[in-house]
Amino acid sequence: MHDGPIGVFDSGLGGLTVLQALADLLPHEDLVYFGDTARYPYGDRTAPELRRFSDQIADLLVAAGAKMLVVACNSATAAALEPLRARLTVPVIGVVEPGLRAAAKVSRSRRTVVIGTRMTAASGIYERTAAGLDLALDLEVLACPGFVELVEEGRTDTPEAVRVVHDRLAPLLRARTDTLVLGCTHYPLLARAIGRVVGRHVTLVSSADETAFEVRDLLQRTGWLSQRRRDGRRTFVTSGSPSRFAELGQRFLGTPLDDVRGHVWDV
Ligand code: SIN
Repeated sequence: MHDGPIGVFDSGLGGLTVLQALADLLPHEDLVYFGDTARYPYGDRTAPELRRFSDQIADLLVAAGAKMLVVACNSATAAALEPLRARLTVPVIGVVEPGLRAAAKVSRSRRTVVIGTRMTAASGIYERTAAGLDLALDLEVLACPGFVELVEEGRTDTPEAVRVVHDRLAPLLRARTDTLVLGCTHYPLLARAIGRVVGRHVTLVSSADETAFEVRDLLQRTGWLSQRRRDGRRTFVTSGSPSRFAELGQRFLGTPLDDVRGHVWDV
């Protein structure tokens, strides 16, 4: 079991930002990624729906031999992390805690804004988690509907992307914040547009690197780090179109996705 892959999942392409960080930090680990493209955006789903989707995907990844799971989606983390941990025997890591830890490291003013989907913002998970970790951050959480669609439809580097981002984030320009947490794994793929809008004095924080460190720490603690010397294999599964996933995935990762498979839900 310890030679199994690390299973990673998201509503679509956004979790590739986490997969990339894992591949960089843990190059010998096999990674299997599930993008639930047919059912995105998760940010407009209900918590019971996301728990059901997360259960289905987690079961597929565990059946594929995953030794641990990374919920590389903030909305699914908000709705399903704790139920998954309670049900599964493999360790499960989400992206909210790592994102907050990363913000706490860089924020000078402690005034921190988190942007995420409607689901994530309404769940209160950032406020609860920050309070539990005692990070002394003064948090504001802002929903950004429409951002995920820009990524999934491959419209990240367009004037429209800057316009959508500007309309949503303009209030931040007046807020005294120096740290913006990208509380959706899709948003690092919009970092250029977001950075143009909020300016250089605001540090953009993604959970990807911190999540990868958390995975490495867990594998070190459990003695489950891969002992292989070869490069890890990357397998991608999507519930949407494999060719479209491969095309956009290559654009975002900057490297071809050699093994992309389709999965059709029958419910
Ligand atoms: C979405 O599908 O709406 C984005 C998922 C996320 O919250 O990271």
